[in-house]
Amino acid sequence: TANPDYDLSKPLDLDGVGLRQKLASYGDPHFSLFMRKLFIKALGYSEDALSRPIVGIVNTYSSFNPCHANIPQLIDAVKRGVQLSGGLAIDFPTISLHESFASPTSMYLRNLMSMDTEEMIQAQPVDSVVLIGGCDKTTPAQLMGGISANKPIIHLVTGPMMPGSFQGVRIGACTDCRNNWANFRAGTLDIEDISALNEELAPTAGTCGVMGTASTMSCILLALGLMPLSLPSATAPAVSSSRLRIAEATGTHAVALAKSQLRPQTLLSRESFLNAITVLQAVGGSTNAIVHLMAIVNRHPQLAGSITLQTIDEIGRKTPLLVDLKPSGDNYMTDFHNAGGMLALLHELKSLLHLKAMTITGRTLGEELAHIPFRPLPLDSPLKSTIHPFNQPLYPASSLIVLSKGNLASAGGAVIKASASKDRSLLSHTGPAVVFSGPKDLAERIDSANLNVTPSSVLILQNIGPVGNPGMPEAGLIPIPRKLAAKGVTDMLRISDGRMSGTAGGTIILHVSPESADPESVLGVIQDGDVITFDAEGRYLHVEIGEEVIRRRIEQRKNMMMMGEGCGRSAWIVREKERGYRGLYMREVNQAEQGADFGFLTAAGPK
Ligand code: FES
Ligand code: MG
Repeated sequence: TANPDYDLSKPLDLDGVGLRQKLASYGDPHFSLFMRKLFIKALGYSEDALSRPIVGIVNTYSSFNPCHANIPQLIDAVKRGVQLSGGLAIDFPTISLHESFASPTSMYLRNLMSMDTEEMIQAQPVDSVVLIGGCDKTTPAQLMGGISANKPIIHLVTGPMMPGSFQGVRIGACTDCRNNWANFRAGTLDIEDISALNEELAPTAGTCGVMGTASTMSCILLALGLMPLSLPSATAPAVSSSRLRIAEATGTHAVALAKSQLRPQTLLSRESFLNAITVLQAVGGSTNAIVHLMAIVNRHPQLAGSITLQTIDEIGRKTPLLVDLKPSGDNYMTDFHNAGGMLALLHELKSLLHLKAMTITGRTLGEELAHIPFRPLPLDSPLKSTIHPFNQPLYPASSLIVLSKGNLASAGGAVIKASASKDRSLLSHTGPAVVFSGPKDLAERIDSANLNVTPSSVLILQNIGPVGNPGMPEAGLIPIPRKLAAKGVTDMLRISDGRMSGTAGGTIILHVSPESADPESVLGVIQDGDVITFDAEGRYLHVEIGEEVIRRRIEQRKNMMMMGEGCGRSAWIVREKERGYRGLYMREVNQAEQGADFGFLTAAGPK
């Protein structure tokens, strides 16, 4: 099959997806094609090569991105798969985001990466695209862009890293980074220990080795049908030979997709997303994945708005937590992989899944599960405890909870990963607020000996929402005040409008919306000593102050904002004057329950 984007022998096909490209460059479409062809020939391609289906491979390698360190080998393997199947593989770069090297936050750049991905897929003459990503924000950005571009896509993740070891104990990024750092803060680990741990916490290339955001998104991509189920696409370690065979197979599938032209807006249905949310709950996935899922679904013209936070909560109520991985449980991604990975989990969850949902092979999820050979682990296998049987769950239901009642949650909701709570008595709790107005205030006072705080206090951190602290930092894991940590307190109820790393645990309420920078936000007017009531079971989050008091405080705060007062609280106002990408981000970003995407990128279009 000739690729019409290069073929001069046939009349131009001016319909379909290539239209924009054919007409854009030089006005005259035949001349544009002539130019395109002479320039691609400068790369040494033959007529034969150019007559093949063209598979684009998105290269997100960066020397600043250890989670993507294996991408050069993966590209080689994808190309092998493409070329063995009669296609032509052409790789091209987009930006790469690593959690630790994307200041101010990787979330700030996720939408930029999605725009880069969408536009480069649109701009270039590809018949299908392999999206290689892995680190937390990369796979969501690629899928958001991929859905908007709507050319056939298939995902390939870089795969999780291996666990390391410290004094005979397995460790891995990043749950153990946080636990050990907390121990160092509490004085139970010394500087030599924490330095030795630093050498071992990320011992290989690949994504964080627990059920953090990267692993959660890998499982979700597979549940959405966007990676092959016949291979351990979501869980094979980054450094395994299996990962390279998956890459080769991905190339093969990409050629088939180039021919079938199965596009993401066609492949993805409401049922695909319901399956993804079921998996999210069953793996005890990252709270960040909720934000990403909302952004992803809202890119889809037919599905935008039909899947909401409420859907996530409803599915949670009937979905048990089955996968025993940190931070909700004890194990690492390699254990999940060795225990059978996603294929085993999907068999366990079968009664909850929508089996008619389509996958990239052109077969439904039900057909794939029926046709891919699957042998459960022997009953006495020590790995049996990693994927629990459906009727013996690790946590009965609602690993991730959406709060929707009470004056702090009824407007835009809030989210908590209940299964990662360390002190489950805090899941129903009333206590006085200790309020920090932002990360700087927190840093200055959290460890102060004078801080008026007890273990039953509720720590509130304001101004870390999408607009208030552009990029919505993962600062929701407010540290336990040093004086309480030293006494052995390991968990407290903590509330913010920010995010938390998927690898973190604790009783932590996140994504409160509208964010506190919004002049109308209730979170924004909470003061020290206000009594907070939280009830996970009732989905309830409330500050015990009257409606009139709230109104008065909101009006007072608005006046202060207009006068430019109130440390850092005027982000809402100053965003009109910010330049560049920061200005674009602050003006256009929507709230967490909508996905923290730019309004103009959503299927609903410009605001
Ligand atoms: Fe890349 Fe954790 S830092 S996946
Ligand atoms: Mg993370």
